[in-house]
Order: sequence, then C-alpha cells, then structure tokens
Amino acid sequence: MYYPVQRSSRMLNSPLLSRINILLPILFFAQMVCGIHDIWAAESLDKPAHVTKSVEKITLDGIEYEIPPPWAGHQIQVQPFSFSDFGRIPFSYTVNDSKIYVLVSTHSPLLKMLRAANEQGIRLQVSSGYRSIAYQRSIFKRMISEGRTFDDIIRYVAPPGYSEHMLGIAVDFYPSNWRFASSEQYLWLTEHASDFGFRETYHKSNEMKMPWEAWHWSLIRETEKSLRE
Ligand code: DAL
Ligand code: ZN
Repeated sequence: MYYPVQRSSRMLNSPLLSRINILLPILFFAQMVCGIHDIWAAESLDKPAHVTKSVEKITLDGIEYEIPPPWAGHQIQVQPFSFSDFGRIPFSYTVNDSKIYVLVSTHSPLLKMLRAANEQGIRLQVSSGYRSIAYQRSIFKRMISEGRTFDDIIRYVAPPGYSEHMLGIAVDFYPSNWRFASSEQYLWLTEHASDFGFRETYHKSNEMKMPWEAWHWSLIRETEKSLRE
C-alpha cells in the first residue's frame, strides 16, 4: 500500500508531471475554445463556401460593362408609364423650344417654381426631363461612338437603369455643365427650390459621392408621393 502511494507521490513531484499539471488546464481551456470554434465552423457550413458578390452589368451593342461604384447598388426600378402620365414643359421654359416631359406630379410644382423664378427675373431653362431607359442607352451609344469610354461617361451620365431621369421627377437646367454652379439661376435654386419640393440630387457633398451636378434637380420623392396621394 505504501509503496504505490510513495511512487505516486514521487510521480507528482516529478518535473514531467508538474509540467502536465500546468498543461492540463491550458489544454482544457484550448478544448473549450476549440469547441466554440467548432460551433462557428458548424455555422459556416450552412453558408455557401464561396459567397460570390453579385456584379451588376449592362450590355450595350453586345458589349458587357460592369457597373462600378457609385452607381452599383443604385439601380432604379420603374413601372411602365403611359403618355398620359406626363406633362410637357411649356416651350418658353425649355432650351431651343425642345419638347421636354416630366411626370404630371412633378409638372405642377416645377411650373410653379419656373414661374416664381421668372417673376423674380431669373430665367430658368430646362434642357432635359424624363428620359426612358432606351433614351439613356442611346446617349451612351452615341457617346461611345464618339470615342468616349464607358468609365468616362458614367462620371456624369447615369448608366441606363440608374438615372433619376427615368423616374420623370428630374430636370437638368441650362447650361448643364460646371458653369451652372456660378450662375444666378443656381443661387436662386439653392435659396428657393426646396419651397417647391425640389432638391439638388448630386450636390457638392452628396451621399452617393457622385461628382457635383449643380444643374440636376429633382422633386423630392416624399413630395412626389404626397402629391399623388
Ligand atoms: N446626369 C445624371 C447623373 C443622369 O444621367 O441621371
Ligand atoms: Zn440630370
């Protein structure tokens, strides 16, 4: 009886065993961690091993273009419109007497704004309004045929399917370029457009991080919704 105990006690005092004594709790802890790790592993088994990021693409003249930021994730879905959904902006407010349309719900506040500006001596001229996806495509095709690259075009023109113009709530004012930002028309809009429910979609520090488009204004969607109800 004595001998084994003595042997056992000798073993407990052996350097090997004292190392095991230290190692055991560490191993136990490691096992716990591994256990938890196994749960994570089990969870990850439920997910596909390769989660592929969905890439948005459009095809123009048989060539596929990938939609990069800031447009990716901002595709716009619209219900098909009929002609009666639109109102034409009077020629006196359009560039070169162009026939430009916006949704009826945008037409009325837009005209109020154009008239108010006019009464205050500010001549606002609309150069673009509703654009169908087909029209937006034609803009791209033309620009590509003129030698512009897709990446260059999307700096200022939304890819087909991504433009607010497709909603019939947006207009571009003349001149639709960087000069507009220093015009009296722009100053007037920054002071008064919100009174009529309009906003500068791609303002200087817009959430989408799009290049600044001082000339592009749209009816705030909430306003458009409340006007429809
Ligand atoms: N120019 C704006 C971004 C559009 O094409 O909708
Ligand atoms: Zn625009």
